[in-house]
Amino acid sequence: MADGLNPFAILTGASRGIGAAYARLLARRGYDLLLVSRDEMRLTTLSRELETNHRVQAHVFIADLAQPDAAHQLFVESRRYRQTPDMLINNAGFGLYGEFVAQPLPRIQEMLHLHVQTVVESIRLFLPGMIERGSGTIINVASIVGLLPIPYFAEYAATKAFLVSFSEALAEETRDTGVLIQACCPGQTETDFHTSAGFRPTSRISMQTADQVAHVSLAALRNKHPVVTIGWQGRLTALVIKWLPRRFLIRTAGRFIRTAARSGPTA
Ligand SMILES: NC(=O)c1ccc[n+]([C@@H]2O[C@H](COP(=O)([O-])OP(=O)(O)OC[C@H]3O[C@@H](n4cnc5c(N)ncnc54)[C@H](OP(=O)(O)O)[C@@H]3O)[C@@H](O)[C@H]2O)c1
Repeated sequence: MADGLNPFAILTGASRGIGAAYARLLARRGYDLLLVSRDEMRLTTLSRELETNHRVQAHVFIADLAQPDAAHQLFVESRRYRQTPDMLINNAGFGLYGEFVAQPLPRIQEMLHLHVQTVVESIRLFLPGMIERGSGTIINVASIVGLLPIPYFAEYAATKAFLVSFSEALAEETRDTGVLIQACCPGQTETDFHTSAGFRPTSRISMQTADQVAHVSLAALRNKHPVVTIGWQGRLTALVIKWLPRRFLIRTAGRFIRTAARSGPTA
């Protein structure tokens, strides 16, 4: 078991996919962890795996982060272990594909709470302690679609655009404080995300792995870039978004997403 001197990271959406990949990489680097999601069984299994394979403590916090008081509860829970975390990774999220007017309002509200409200409130609660200490890292897992409005994926892309904008602005505000803030912008990644959201990815060629995303994101902390894309796919998409006409891109993206969303989940 750890002696309490390990660095400490809070990781939301740790039960699977990109969150679980971050957890494994951080445990390998000697971080004690607070793993957060709604799935007790998966989190407990992951926690046992990490504690068995590495000299770390992996605590579990079962929480629905789409609930109004979630950030405050997370803050209180984390103080049971450390005054201020060394790292906060806001990764929990889900997708909603299809026409905006066809989406159930409660699901849209859930997304706004999870992707925006809980993230902003968590950062507001944790950041002052990091600034006071003069060190800390916050990673907000956004998406490459946060760089462009996407019809039939509108509210998802807009919440991720919020995270990109918010992270970039905060990174500048905190530039001289010793705190690093990153918006991680994965492209299509092999996780449960697409199946849960009712989307069939059209090509596996451009797919990234959850390990690749977590690895590139953590490695990129060295160069302090506030917005990080993943692999050649991310670099290419960012270039295309920068140079091609915006209206053309939005229409093309809309056509592509509508077709893929109609064909339904892969599983
Ligand atoms: N996969 C992609 O192609 C892709 C691309 C770009 C960005 N992203 C982003 O990457 C992040 C991780 O997604 P993923 O691909 O790893 O998907 P995933 O495998 O579906 O994992 C999503 C994670 O979020 C957690 N979560 C969802 N709703 C929650 C809630 N209300 N409260 C607490 N936890 C919640 C889930 O935990 P429980 O269900 O156990 O609660 C799970 O751990 C998301 O923010 C997503 O938007 C994914």
